[in-house]
Amino acid sequence: MGFLEWAIDPWGLKVPIHIAWFLIWVSVIAGLAFFIVHATYLRYFAKPRKFASEIRPPAPSDIPERVPRHSQVARMFHWIMAAAMFTLLFTAFLPRVGVQFPWVTYHWIAGTVLTVSILFHIFHVSFWLDFWSIWPDRIDMTDAYNRVLRSIGRPAPLPRKFAKYPLENKLYHGAIMVAGLAAIATGVFMMFRVRTIFFTRNPYLFSDMTWGMIYVLHGLAGVGLIALIMVHIYFGVRPEKQPITKSMIFGWMSREFYLEEHDPKRWVVSPADAAPALEGSKRTK
Ligand code: HEM
Repeated sequence: MGFLEWAIDPWGLKVPIHIAWFLIWVSVIAGLAFFIVHATYLRYFAKPRKFASEIRPPAPSDIPERVPRHSQVARMFHWIMAAAMFTLLFTAFLPRVGVQFPWVTYHWIAGTVLTVSILFHIFHVSFWLDFWSIWPDRIDMTDAYNRVLRSIGRPAPLPRKFAKYPLENKLYHGAIMVAGLAAIATGVFMMFRVRTIFFTRNPYLFSDMTWGMIYVLHGLAGVGLIALIMVHIYFGVRPEKQPITKSMIFGWMSREFYLEEHDPKRWVVSPADAAPALEGSKRTK
């Protein structure tokens, strides 16, 4: 049983044509295994989280009651991207597991929506939001190291509270970015293989071998996204993460949650910051 499906091209050369579709189930099972292992660990083994105490914690009155977290534009992007992602996953994989329908047109339309929304997202975070807030920084790395030491019973300082995004979210964003960009970059070329409104169909743009590799990379990114999105939804519905999920709907999180999880020096929120729900939407960092 190979991981790829192969064919013989007109010149007798063996070329890959796409991934073997059993990898869909490998990804689904990996996602389910993650749920089970993580939920069991949290329920039976994890110790309560402890953070280093802040030298001078802010007075609650210094923090707005509703802390703005995602601007209206950022939320719209998230939900448009989510709709495109779901459409792409279902149109790509349902036909592979026996649900036949003319999927290609829906697929490339959703692919176009995803591509445009990601281009917009890159522009938006570069010029309007805090581009670096989603990349691991030095404190994240030191704290991660200390967390590992403490988990194996070695002495190490307590980690600080999180900046706007915990390290886990930053790492997840990195993984979904790699898989998403690979699916987009290959998908744009694959549009030359089918009839779309954008380009004249040209299946001879690349050699069979190059096309094969493009299809394989597209398929690998696609199956990777199944597990990644399952994990994302799992965290989104976990009770302790619901304040974060709600902030992606309403735009803000409560002062209590902010003070419990976030370091006000690493994610600075001033009393002047108005929560969208109270005083109309404002730019959030
Ligand atoms: C969640 C993201 C995506 C997933 C899971 C996904 C998955 C897939 C899969 C499994 C196939 C079948 C490929 C094969 O037969 O080997 C496919 C085909 C295709 N994908 Fe995607 N894809 C995604 C994103 C995109 C994007 C962003 C675009 C366009 C920008 C795109 C354009 C296409 C096109 C045009 C085909 C048809 C190729 C053909 O039939 O020859 N896809 N996709």
